[in-house]
Amino acid sequence: MTSKKTIDEYFMSRALSLAWRGVDGASPNPRVGCVLTKDGRVIGEGYHERRGEAHAEVNALNDAKARGEDIRDATAYVTLEPCSHFGRTPPCAPRLAESGVSRVVVGSLDPNPKVSGAGIEILRGAGLEIAMPCKEKECKWLNRGFFRSFALHRPWVTLKAAAGLDGRMALYNGVSNWITGDVARDWAHLMRAEHDGILVGAGTIRKDNPRLTTRRVCGHSPTRVVLDSHLSIAPGVAPVSYDVLGEGCIVMTTEQKHLAERRKSIEETGAEVVALPANSESDRIDLSLVMAELYAREVRSVMVEGGPKILSSFIKEELCDSLALFSAASVMGEGPGLGDGFSLETMNDVVRLRDVRVRRAGGDILTEGVFQCSPVL
Ligand SMILES: NC(=O)c1ccc[n+]([C@@H]2O[C@H](COP(=O)([O-])OP(=O)(O)OC[C@H]3O[C@@H](n4cnc5c(N)ncnc54)[C@H](OP(=O)(O)O)[C@@H]3O)[C@@H](O)[C@H]2O)c1
Repeated sequence: MTSKKTIDEYFMSRALSLAWRGVDGASPNPRVGCVLTKDGRVIGEGYHERRGEAHAEVNALNDAKARGEDIRDATAYVTLEPCSHFGRTPPCAPRLAESGVSRVVVGSLDPNPKVSGAGIEILRGAGLEIAMPCKEKECKWLNRGFFRSFALHRPWVTLKAAAGLDGRMALYNGVSNWITGDVARDWAHLMRAEHDGILVGAGTIRKDNPRLTTRRVCGHSPTRVVLDSHLSIAPGVAPVSYDVLGEGCIVMTTEQKHLAERRKSIEETGAEVVALPANSESDRIDLSLVMAELYAREVRSVMVEGGPKILSSFIKEELCDSLALFSAASVMGEGPGLGDGFSLETMNDVVRLRDVRVRRAGGDILTEGVFQCSPVL
């Protein structure tokens, strides 16, 4: 006979795949999926599609109603604890409690201190049976930006790079288009669409003039963030006009009054300029302040796609959570590489990853993992 745990995990997997559909619009809210079952049959499904709109549980209850199903004594599978507070919509826990559902299987607790445990209390108080956690690791990974933001007041930071097998990210002369093939590049655009922000350094803009959009796939284009200490990418300063500038782009710089003209010309493109104090040691834009600024703007996750200088700054300051490295089956020779900018004395100091996964991306290889410095979710 199939165990209750196996059945719960089966329906939670379905709720997880529904939740992933919210990848495009739910943020800064969490991605949540909900499945209602009765007698081993799915009677309703829903997910949180867009910020400000109905939550997964409400969509699943409405779906069951629309199908003409009787909700009494149904089981609800929800990837995240049902909310207990009034946010942009009314709370879901009381709504579930009144619905006739008799058992709720919960993926993980909500990290939001306004909810954490209170949603479960409402359901238990109303006499519903609660089973939790169920597929907790997957449920937390789904919302890693949401969890990271509540725990550390900064977004989840993914470092993404393309390199040859020798780890070089460009040729000696800076040329890097294109290291990997179409499949890897489509995949990278899907990763962009999963994040709220994409961040690069001015070096990448000056050399590659990237657009930093998700044009190869469907999905929203995240906020584009450029770290440029001297506003060197301002129109008029550079010989070309950079495609990254315009609405949806934030240029972060250090506070320097003599850059007022440059600031104005960037703002005229529709981009925003944010001046932050420089880090007293490196004299560069302070990454912890960049993180605080993004957190304040409800950017829950950011993909750092910069060149080696930016990547190594994030690694050195231990402000990185995961790595996505596309490796081409090639040797690039001398050139900038992942790991430039720091030297380590002993093997104990080596920057290591956990939860490593290796996959094929057409003719390239994608290695993903979580940095050891990233606190467990
Ligand atoms: N293969 C890949 O995945 C990939 C991806 C991107 C780029 N690239 C290649 O990498 C090369 C560019 O490398 P890069 O290292 O110059 O690009 P980068 O890391 O994107 O930009 C570095 C610049 O960012 C600015 N910056 C501001 N704050 C910083 C901070 N806290 N830490 C570090 N930098 C900060 C600095 O310029 P200011 O001092 O002027 O502010 C710095 O020179 C190009 O050849 C490009 O083609 C390859």
